[in-house]
Amino acid sequence: MKIAVLGAGGMGGTVVQHLRECPEVTGIVAYDIDEERIRGMRERFGINGSTRLAEVLSDPAVKLTFVTAANHAHKELALRSLEAGKAVMCEKPMANTLADAREMVETAERLRLFFQIGFEARYSKLYTKVKEWIDAGLLGQVVNTHCLYTSGACEKNAWRNTKREGGNTFGERLSHYVDLTRWWIGARVTEVFSASSPNVVPYTEVHDNYHATYRFESGAVSHVTFYMNYPATFRGDPLADNITDLQLGDGHKLRFILVGTKGAAETDVFYRRIKRLQFGDSPEVMTSDWVENLTWDRKEDHFYYHNTTHQTYDIVRRVAKGLPPMTPARDAYETMRLCFAAEESTNTGQIVRLAAPD
Ligand SMILES: NC(=O)c1ccc[n+]([C@@H]2O[C@H](COP(=O)([O-])OP(=O)(O)OC[C@H]3O[C@@H](n4cnc5c(N)ncnc54)[C@H](O)[C@@H]3O)[C@@H](O)[C@H]2O)c1
Repeated sequence: MKIAVLGAGGMGGTVVQHLRECPEVTGIVAYDIDEERIRGMRERFGINGSTRLAEVLSDPAVKLTFVTAANHAHKELALRSLEAGKAVMCEKPMANTLADAREMVETAERLRLFFQIGFEARYSKLYTKVKEWIDAGLLGQVVNTHCLYTSGACEKNAWRNTKREGGNTFGERLSHYVDLTRWWIGARVTEVFSASSPNVVPYTEVHDNYHATYRFESGAVSHVTFYMNYPATFRGDPLADNITDLQLGDGHKLRFILVGTKGAAETDVFYRRIKRLQFGDSPEVMTSDWVENLTWDRKEDHFYYHNTTHQTYDIVRRVAKGLPPMTPARDAYETMRLCFAAEESTNTGQIVRLAAPD
């Protein structure tokens, strides 16, 4: 099977590295609007590329495209791939407007084509461990979650930090964590309230911080706190070495606390920690016992965090065998709906009430 990687930047390169390890893949072609990026792909990986999308998509050997371009290009690249009959994996955030995301999902459904969104945290060994605990009933019903994410990424001239190309920070930087929360709680969100303070980062026209609260139909409440500005400036490749000694203790944080009716869990990516607590009873007090304390070797960091490797292998395998996506695109769309609702609440100061999905 031949694969086209549409967007030859950082993420495009990461995907090409993974694709080269897939036995099903017989060829890879890159597409980008920037000639330099195509040349870079040829030099790094020895693969051919083009700045003409029609040429890439007209090749009948290409069965699957990975949309790895900047956010504002996702809609066009995904729709043109689907209209050419290709299976599609599209990076998060799906699109820069909810209407565009919906059009993409509806097109894939109408054409009955494979369409998966790049929420690779669902392949992370860390976050799937939490899901296993929940599915085994060890936490009971999850009623509270809190995510604290602080990330130093304050580049000048970054497309991510513009409304036109990046969309908004919530979709670009927080969609993974909203998606995990939905996955773990397994209920529909009914209300969202979010607030941001004035930016500290001067080089971004999008928000550099959020405090967002979600209320679920089950009664659960989740909170996400994000600061783009506080950790020490990070100069590495966030996907290649996301947890290094450089980042440990320098202000980068990605912590979750989940509280259920029977127990609790805590994850900390930068300190390589997963904990589980179990609630009980004694004559005097409701007890909580620390029953699991897991860690991992630094060589495993990628698999415990942004596990794009296993996501890519799984998508290729599914398309080769004619299987559906691991998570339907309509489910990923629900996550995008929550991201756009948080952005709307931040900008209007109002609670956003969400109707049941149709
Ligand atoms: N899943 C994750 O954890 C994760 C991590 C990093 C990036 N991403 C996503 O991957 C995508 C790319 O991010 P990146 O870090 O590789 O950015 P990047 O800046 O390194 O690369 C973006 C590429 O898109 C190209 N591009 C811009 N407009 C285009 C168009 N209209 N058609 C084709 N190509 C176009 C640029 O020339 C550039 O080569 C983004 O959507 C980002 O959110 C996801």
